[in-house]
Amino acid sequence: MVPNEFSNLTADVDVQFTLKQVTRKQSNRRSWGTRDRMKRSSRGGVDAIDTSRNLNIWICNIGGGILGYAQFPGGSASTDGVVISPQYFGTQGYVSAPFDKGRTATHEVGHWLNLRHIWGDGGCSVDDYVSDTPVSSTPNYGCPSYPTQHCNSNDMTMNYMDYVDDSCMYMFTTGQKNRMRALFASGGYRSAFAQ
Ligand code: ARG
Ligand code: ZN
Ligand code: CA
Repeated sequence: MVPNEFSNLTADVDVQFTLKQVTRKQSNRRSWGTRDRMKRSSRGGVDAIDTSRNLNIWICNIGGGILGYAQFPGGSASTDGVVISPQYFGTQGYVSAPFDKGRTATHEVGHWLNLRHIWGDGGCSVDDYVSDTPVSSTPNYGCPSYPTQHCNSNDMTMNYMDYVDDSCMYMFTTGQKNRMRALFASGGYRSAFAQ
């Protein structure tokens, strides 16, 4: 449950995706790292499908305990999209608790839609560029009890852009929604998706 303090800030981001294509490729590589090798057929990976109109998701073992990573808007077209390790993708089969509720994809797609981590990846004075998310100075892990505080306000630990367990993250804010949706507006970096 979202605490009262934050309940008027929750937002339905109102973005839907349609599955276009699934490509499966055999590989003997055990871990793929975070340098986009999986996005290039010349490196044993799979090339992206038209990133101006498609969200590309590569599912492969990243290694190093990394659940997923994303490219922010404005990067190279050929590597645009998100990467998720199979243990943390979806809710069935080869998934590993406590990251077995599909929230790694929610979090990474948040990055792909221009969201920063809720603590701004810095101290109490570093912002995430969203005005209705409270400032914090560090990620939260596990399933924090409320209230949890690191700066002069309670952390919104249940936000998808924190680092908590899948079952303990369950909201975006209106400010995050607006920041994401701005990309689809005319002149926005992902405006081709809105067509
Ligand atoms: N650590 C990863 C990142 O910063 C993903 C975190 C996802 N968290 C989760 N509960 N699934 O992109
Ligand atoms: Zn992240
Ligand atoms: Ca903020």
